[in-house]
Amino acid sequence: MLNGKRILLIVAGGIAAFKSLELIRRLRERGASVRCVVTENGARFVTPLSLQALSEDRVYSDMFSLTDESEMGHIQLSRDADLLVVAPATANLLARMAGGLADDLAATVLLATDKPVLVAPAMNVRMWTHAATMANVETLKRRGIHFIGPNEGAMACNEHGPGRMSEPEEIADAIERLLSPAQPLAGRRAVVTSGPTREAIDPVRYISNHSSGKQGHAIASALAALGAEVTLVSGPVSLADPPGVRAVHVESADQMLAACLAAGTLDIAVCAAAVADWKAAHQANAKIKKKPGAAPPALELTPNPDILATLSKPGPNRPTLVIGFAAETEDLVANAIEKRKRKGCDWILANDVSPETGTFGGERNTVHLVTASGVEDWPTLGKSEVALRLADRVVRFFGGPTRAEAAE
Ligand code: PMT
Repeated sequence: MLNGKRILLIVAGGIAAFKSLELIRRLRERGASVRCVVTENGARFVTPLSLQALSEDRVYSDMFSLTDESEMGHIQLSRDADLLVVAPATANLLARMAGGLADDLAATVLLATDKPVLVAPAMNVRMWTHAATMANVETLKRRGIHFIGPNEGAMACNEHGPGRMSEPEEIADAIERLLSPAQPLAGRRAVVTSGPTREAIDPVRYISNHSSGKQGHAIASALAALGAEVTLVSGPVSLADPPGVRAVHVESADQMLAACLAAGTLDIAVCAAAVADWKAAHQANAKIKKKPGAAPPALELTPNPDILATLSKPGPNRPTLVIGFAAETEDLVANAIEKRKRKGCDWILANDVSPETGTFGGERNTVHLVTASGVEDWPTLGKSEVALRLADRVVRFFGGPTRAEAAE
């Protein structure tokens, strides 16, 4: 039930807007109060009067309305709810959210809010599967935005496929789950490494790699959403810290190891960082000068500490479950099986990082979960989906229900 919960429903311009009226009714039946913001295009599909009649509250649409702003400023509107729900969410509104635009009241409220946001997309199948929309969705998921749907089926434009907005009952169920979430990992402590490391050669040059941190950050987010207390140890990346995790920013492998060891007693360790295997044996204190006519300087390398192997060492402080990644460009699974044994971790996720796969820095990943009992091939998924699946497996390992089981 949603007794006493306050929902801010944002209605954007799509044919599925008619379902938002039913959604308001369902939410109010469950005890929630609903206040609506409708975009200019949303108001072409459903009248503000209908939204007002069903919500029994005033409807907001104009960013520059003196009456609206004096009664309820847009910042207060964005904070005065327990949850913001965007239904339907059009490709255009998703793009504006991903881009951080604040060009109308709906987008501004979404940018200004400090509350969880649930999005129910609805659009033509080709618009949904377009690379731009997929990238926007992945960006928003990484920032902690929750999604429901879209469903697959016949659409108003006479096409068939994913793009139909979820049914009001499904959205109301998802809202209930979000507002009283299952926390099967509550009380578990986790460390997640993410991103590249940078190994200084001199004050201006370094050795590094192409890791963006997208996969590691998504895993930290997914574990935190299930109630785990997560320390994210991240190398230099351009991503924001995910909400709900304690982030420690480091540069080198030595610093990353120290931060992991400082995280204390752990139940779970996930090493998704692309740690440089070697560092400069001698770091110059001043910029190494290029001398005309002289041969290039020789760079002597020395191994970095192996963080995954260190965390996997048997002993009283070993996390109960240690998970690594294997980044390979050939003999993917065979090398991952060997790597799991050599490093001593419990599970390893093998992923092909050949340039043509786009795994490094990209939005999607194709992984194979290697455990002591065998190899499981996962389909190509967005990195957030990989993270959610892995988090589900972690829940199952610790004996709790998975997301799907908890939702039943
Ligand atoms: O960051 P993204 O752009 O999203 O890309 C994701 C990813 C490709 C970086 C990620 O999915 C991945 O594969 N991470 C591991 C990269 C790597 O360094 O793989 P490896 O096969 O060299 O190392 C095996 C394991 O040992 C990894 O868990 C790694 O974190 C760990 N390791 C390696 C070396 C070292 N000195 N210390 C370590 O802990």
